[in-house]
Amino acid sequence: MTATVLVDAENVRRSTWPNVPAAELVERCRRWAARSDVRLVVVFDGPAPGEGGDLVAAADAGADDRIVELARGLEGPVWLVTSDRELRRRVGDAAARLIGGGTFVRELLAEAEPLYDPPVQERNREIRLVARAHGAPDESLFELVETPVPTPAEGQVLIRNAYLSVDPYMRGRMSDVRSYVAPFTLGEAMSGGAVGRIVASRSPDWREGDWVVHGLGWREWSLSDARGLRRVEPGEAPISTALGVLGMPGMTAWWGITQIGKPREGETVFVSGAAGAVGSAAAQLAALRGCRVLGSAGSAEKLEWLAELGIEAFDYHSRPPHEALRELAPDGIDVYFDNVGGDHLEAAIGAMRPFGRVVACGAISRYSAVEPEPGPRNLFMLFTKRLTVQGFIVSDHYDRYAEFLAEMTPLVRDGRVRYRETVVEGIENAPAAFLGLLRGENIGKMLVKVGPEQ
Ligand SMILES: NC(=O)c1ccc[n+]([C@@H]2O[C@H](COP(=O)([O-])OP(=O)(O)OC[C@H]3O[C@@H](n4cnc5c(N)ncnc54)[C@H](OP(=O)(O)O)[C@@H]3O)[C@@H](O)[C@H]2O)c1
Repeated sequence: MTATVLVDAENVRRSTWPNVPAAELVERCRRWAARSDVRLVVVFDGPAPGEGGDLVAAADAGADDRIVELARGLEGPVWLVTSDRELRRRVGDAAARLIGGGTFVRELLAEAEPLYDPPVQERNREIRLVARAHGAPDESLFELVETPVPTPAEGQVLIRNAYLSVDPYMRGRMSDVRSYVAPFTLGEAMSGGAVGRIVASRSPDWREGDWVVHGLGWREWSLSDARGLRRVEPGEAPISTALGVLGMPGMTAWWGITQIGKPREGETVFVSGAAGAVGSAAAQLAALRGCRVLGSAGSAEKLEWLAELGIEAFDYHSRPPHEALRELAPDGIDVYFDNVGGDHLEAAIGAMRPFGRVVACGAISRYSAVEPEPGPRNLFMLFTKRLTVQGFIVSDHYDRYAEFLAEMTPLVRDGRVRYRETVVEGIENAPAAFLGLLRGENIGKMLVKVGPEQ
């Protein structure tokens, strides 16, 4: 029985071949169908270009509805060409084969031309670091550069990014100092976490339409050799959470609480930077373990949100941490989750009960310091109080990512762990978002939106 190929034409054009006119797409489809001995139905979301035969226009209904209706009515095997997951699901059992838009276009081209024509109207924009930071960074260290959208070679994928992450550790990489991660290379795009959708794949492991997290950084489009990509299921939670509460910062909080601080029911936990991406998740995970949770943050709005989460927080601008802790926890604290360092760390050591644990996660108050400052003056308390201080880098533990997600996703989905995001629009504003993060302008995770979420 002759197979029918049902082409979701708008999807193919939008996702894989945007600069090819509709009439040209139809013509190529016809030639291909003749060669392949299949029946062809090309469905447009609107009037079809050209006339008759195998072209179906779906002017009144949406093309998706028309495709589902056609697929159900057809006899014999049906191949559906689309990268639209929802449509694939709806057609589901009627379709014998599902073909991604990119694969189909490659067949249409019979490998004679490049798989992916970068859309001519689109350019890639990226932010490069052009000078090293000394002290507090500013916008002059960054440059916005336009480049062509790259074309994937064999084994590569092209990703259209939706969100970029700006993170405190990036401040360290802007200086020319040796650390656990190498400094950024001057003149290159800032690397870092991003989430996006694969729009062209020449890798057997990935398909057009797959969502991934990668580390290729501050660009609108990323070309990847398909290694180091982490799959994201868009149905599980909003895509942006893959960089926040269900991403690196969330895992940092989870690791610090479950593997290092290990607070027990009834204990008192203090989290600095409590309204940030890591801090807000850590504080809530501690609260879920039946702890009393104290926090510090830098504005009234942040304190309000923390109060909603059941965290007793103080503004460290108006009250030094050691005073606030003396007042809020006269009997001391058992666990300190340190995101800030400096005066917060000293105050926490002073407030620790015997056998307390310090989760040394970050020290943002020091990242732009020009001169090293004297450390906590009360380090002798580590032995008088028999304290444990343990630092960690979350990426050392990525082999446990699945375990983190399995635990955290349901907590986020049913609201037991809540999250906020501060979203800055446009790649051109990524430097401002990053500088704003260092100044405390974010509540929850700071993100930059650089492309569509579809
Ligand atoms: N160990 C790891 O593997 C790992 C992984 C991820 C993150 N981290 C660390 O975790 C910490 C939080 O990271 P994040 O991504 O969640 O960032 P974040 O907390 O969402 O954002 C940074 C926050 O730091 C606060 N801040 C800035 N300067 C400060 C200062 N001088 N004193 C006190 N607070 C200050 C600001 O909030 P306020 O308004 O409250 O000042 C700002 O919103 C950072 O230290 C980061 O380096 C560590």
